[in-house]
Amino acid sequence: MGRIRVLSDNVANKIAAGEVVERPASVVKELLENSLDAGSSSIRVEIENGGRRLIRIADNGCGMLRDDALLAFERHATSKLHDVKDLLSIATLGFRGEALPSIASVSRLLLETRSLDEQTGTRVEIAGGKILSCDEIAGGGGTTISVRDLFFNVPARKKFLRSEQTELAHIASLVTHYSLAHPDKTFELWNGGANLLHATPVETMRERVFQVFGSQLLDDLIDLGTRRRGMQPEPEEPPREFAIRGFVSRPQVQKNNRNSIFVFVNGRLIRDRLMLHALSAAYHNLMPQACFPFALLFLECDCEEVDVNVHPSKTEVRFRHQSWVHDFVRDAIREQLMQSRPAPSFSPNPQPAAALPYSDFSQLMQDQDAGLAAVPEFVMQPLPAPAARFDFGEGGIPLNQSKPEGVKLRMPDTHGGFPLDSIPADHSMVRIGELRPMGQLHNSFIIAAGADGLWIIDQHVAHERILFEQVLAQQAAGRVEVQQLLMPMILQLTPEQQIEYARIADELHASGFETEPFGNRTIAVKAAPGQVGLGDLERVILEILEIAEHELRSVSISDLRRGIAASIACRAAIKINTPLDHKKMEWMLRTLAATEYPMACPHGRPVALQYGTREILRAFHRI
Ligand SMILES: Nc1ncnc2c1ncn2[C@@H]1O[C@H](COP(=O)(O)OP(=O)(O)OP(=O)(O)O)[C@@H](O)[C@H]1O
Ligand SMILES: [Mg+2]
Repeated sequence: MGRIRVLSDNVANKIAAGEVVERPASVVKELLENSLDAGSSSIRVEIENGGRRLIRIADNGCGMLRDDALLAFERHATSKLHDVKDLLSIATLGFRGEALPSIASVSRLLLETRSLDEQTGTRVEIAGGKILSCDEIAGGGGTTISVRDLFFNVPARKKFLRSEQTELAHIASLVTHYSLAHPDKTFELWNGGANLLHATPVETMRERVFQVFGSQLLDDLIDLGTRRRGMQPEPEEPPREFAIRGFVSRPQVQKNNRNSIFVFVNGRLIRDRLMLHALSAAYHNLMPQACFPFALLFLECDCEEVDVNVHPSKTEVRFRHQSWVHDFVRDAIREQLMQSRPAPSFSPNPQPAAALPYSDFSQLMQDQDAGLAAVPEFVMQPLPAPAARFDFGEGGIPLNQSKPEGVKLRMPDTHGGFPLDSIPADHSMVRIGELRPMGQLHNSFIIAAGADGLWIIDQHVAHERILFEQVLAQQAAGRVEVQQLLMPMILQLTPEQQIEYARIADELHASGFETEPFGNRTIAVKAAPGQVGLGDLERVILEILEIAEHELRSVSISDLRRGIAASIACRAAIKINTPLDHKKMEWMLRTLAATEYPMACPHGRPVALQYGTREILRAFHRI
């Protein structure tokens, strides 16, 4: 008697229905999950032409019995679910019995499988859903499924497939992340004969992260360890336990999209807004709002606590106790972020900001930044006499500046009126070039006076804008300033980065990075653009590969070039908390004024804030 059964209509109708096979990566996901459900300890994925020509997954799992090998291609045929109440506690990755028939209906599929319970194995050949042959074969235990010519019989779908590189990048990301979820198993990924990933079994997830991403990323990560919390859902129900493990990046690692966030719930890779929100909430005040961390989160809980039957491609889940899970995840990450902060080197008593160490000051700047970015102009209120002080939150971290209450002073105006005619009516007419630098605030912001009021210029962002345009101009003219390195720098890449690198190597060269492949997933950097300091080189290149991966999904080479220029500019620009003499401040304002768009950095952050003279006058009750 086989293990697979066809679900009754009653159960089948309760399964979230919809498209299963969207693209090559969705085929890889389904087959990979089947191999994991089959208890495999070694999984090998082979790809040709971004998965369009071939996807082959070979595992050493339990294999299928002869009867089951054919039944597996019936819709709603599964060994993982029997009746309706099983739907409430799904412990396997698959449960619908949909994946194999869906894949087989849009490709030429070959299944070779053998269960160790039988003497021989089975080979089933299907094309466009039609069974062509079913034979007995010899072979060891396990299953190999080869999917060729995806969408060969659905030309409309085939037309919409993205480029080979895009599909390959998705597949690499998927295999990489599943390998992180199972450090005890072997994962291999091959593309057209080239090995992109070979992860052998290791004891800890930390070792797996090292295998896959290398030591550079590991240095930027905080290990969450395993954090558990119990709950009592209802008095008559058994208590539940939740556990979260994984890694999150230190707050200074800031990504501008969510592409580096991977969430697994009970071993299933999902996209979940609740978990994303909990993660952002954990970084609240530690990172600007528009930035995202790197995160690898693994949440484990009783299967009764999570409904996985909510999305046709099983990429979403619904928690039974949503806000409880949210708070648990947020608190676990937040606590670990707090514990992993470098010990503050200042006393926890309130002090003026200028005395704060750089890291905390920059943190404070970011906190304020997030709030300020949305506000085009300050609404001024009279300040109370003593200088503003800072509140210190958890672990001595300045969380927010105590905001002075708007003090309403009613004093007779004895100073006479202000000659209003001398104020230009339209601020935007006054150019930054006409500003006079007066000094720096916290060694980070240039304070300048102009005919239209007071200006505060973020020195890092201003310099970033200047360098960005300089690099773009050099690229356009084909005259990039290049510095040769005395010793080539060796960089280790992840499988995804390796794919991006192969794609944009020419563009990197055009931007002044001389690189060449150097063994397996390693490149040698021999020269770099003149603006980039050697200490920043590795980060700039990795950042560019990341931009490339993101841009890949949407846009053009010229956007990639701008991305490269923005990365170089951001790393090369003077940092905040750097003293500048008067000459340098003048140079900065003059050069900034000569740029094409002096008011925003390449990432869209504002360069300058302005207190209009009228606002100042109004605040002093002079008008
Ligand atoms: N690699 C494999 N090793 C052993 N058995 C497999 C393998 N792949 C599939 N099977 C068997 O074939 C059945 C059908 O697989 P299929 O992926 O279509 O459905 P499922 O995994 O049960 O549910 P879902 O559609 O949610 O993935 C599985 O229930 C399992 O018994
Ligand atoms: Mg399945």
